[in-house]
Amino acid sequence: MRRLVFFCIAAVMAASAVAADWNGNERAILATLRLSQLPPVPADPSNRVEGKPQAVALGRQLFFDPRLSSNGKVSCASCHDPKQQFQDGRAVGQGVGTGIRRTMPVTGSGYSAFLFWDGRKDSLWAQALGPLEDAAEHGGNRLAFARVVQQHYRNEYEALFGLLPDLRKLPSDASPLGTPQQQAAWQAMDKASQQEVSRVFANIGKALAAYEKTLQFKASRLDRYIDGVLAGDKSAEQLLTVSEKNGLRLFIGAGRCVTCHAGPMLTDQQFHNTGIAPHGPMPQVLGRRAGIAKVLADEFNCLGPFSDAKPEQCGELRFIADGPALEGAYKTPSLRNVALRPPYMHAGQVGSLAEVVAHYRAAPKAKIGKSELERLKLGEQDVRDMAAFLATLSAPDQFPATQPPSR
Ligand code: HEC
Ligand code: HEC
Repeated sequence: MRRLVFFCIAAVMAASAVAADWNGNERAILATLRLSQLPPVPADPSNRVEGKPQAVALGRQLFFDPRLSSNGKVSCASCHDPKQQFQDGRAVGQGVGTGIRRTMPVTGSGYSAFLFWDGRKDSLWAQALGPLEDAAEHGGNRLAFARVVQQHYRNEYEALFGLLPDLRKLPSDASPLGTPQQQAAWQAMDKASQQEVSRVFANIGKALAAYEKTLQFKASRLDRYIDGVLAGDKSAEQLLTVSEKNGLRLFIGAGRCVTCHAGPMLTDQQFHNTGIAPHGPMPQVLGRRAGIAKVLADEFNCLGPFSDAKPEQCGELRFIADGPALEGAYKTPSLRNVALRPPYMHAGQVGSLAEVVAHYRAAPKAKIGKSELERLKLGEQDVRDMAAFLATLSAPDQFPATQPPSR
């Protein structure tokens, strides 16, 4: 028995040492997937403080602060846990209540023009305001958040954004989105006070965004493999098994995965209908089309009163692409570290990577809109190989380093 095991291991090692023989076209695609090709995260002209170290420091404090919630228990980190690549491993988010979509990893989100599975926000700072007032997430309201800032972060805030408004004459809780009482309290406030409170709220988002933008990916085994292969380093061949190499070949070839999972983050940052069965009640299941209507109407978008951008700097929003093909479409997720965070898809509908690949092979009809997928001619071993390949995108050393700040 022991000899047989030894023989098998030796055979696998010998086989994996064989050069994979990538042709010119394949090598060109491989070169684009390396982390070293990732450009610096683009600047967001709508957030003038994002590059300031004080904004990063304040944002980091706020990210881990459960006082920013209706029950004093929920922070961004409750769902975006730094030890789990800033997500939670659940099918749908769990905060003050239960959500309808899966928590997305935060690392790399600064590269997206549109945030959330349906892209209903057009900046990281505007995105951060969503969960804060969502009844199922932080369940808070913007006036209560302004009071938390006033009590606990006054100096840090004022150094970045100028004086806080006087909140003494205002109600303790108020928001245009909260409970009926909070909405009534908001309507009773004069326009100028509403504007001042919303500005503090927007600035909370801007500090959070500054922190989120500092989160970075680390190189995976695949990055080291490709770097080695392209440099002609024979020893790099051992970094991937035969099965993983076959999976990679299918990923960039017959599987057509790179048409959407392209570039160093393995995403085109676009929205596609891939026929994943919807989850949850209508109309939340509509995907990107509903997201477009929401981002255009959002008071916190790039063209709104709280943005620091000039209108001509808001090209993504002004020239937003819409059309029936986006019915039931969701954002292409990055595949970095994907094997470390099941379940998959926008509501955790698929349990394992093998099942994900089986979904692509079968290309089922979409229940909403039309799926862009075509059936793939893949054997059982190919499905296993592609799932094995996806695990080469992991960089497990990326996460434990981040510690919550001490208060
Ligand atoms: C209750 C769990 C929960 C909490 C708390 C929470 N989030 Fe999320 N987060 C989610 C879920 C679920 C999604 C996807 C929701 C959707 O698309 O509708 C998401 C999406 C995101 C995204 C989008 C990433 C992308 O690539 O588009 C970012 C960024 C983010 N959250 C940051 C934050 C910040 C900052 C906070 C704190 C202010 C926060 N989240 C609080 C669950 C949570
Ligand atoms: C037409 C564009 C497109 C193609 C082609 C495509 N994907 Fe995807 N992929 C997506 C989108 C969009 C999602 C999210 C779908 C959803 O949640 O509804 C996704 C999700 C995934 C996920 C889950 C990631 C997560 O965090 O939930 C994996 C894994 C994946 N794709 C792998 C592959 C593989 C392997 C192939 C090739 C066989 C492939 N994809 C081809 C667009 C595409």
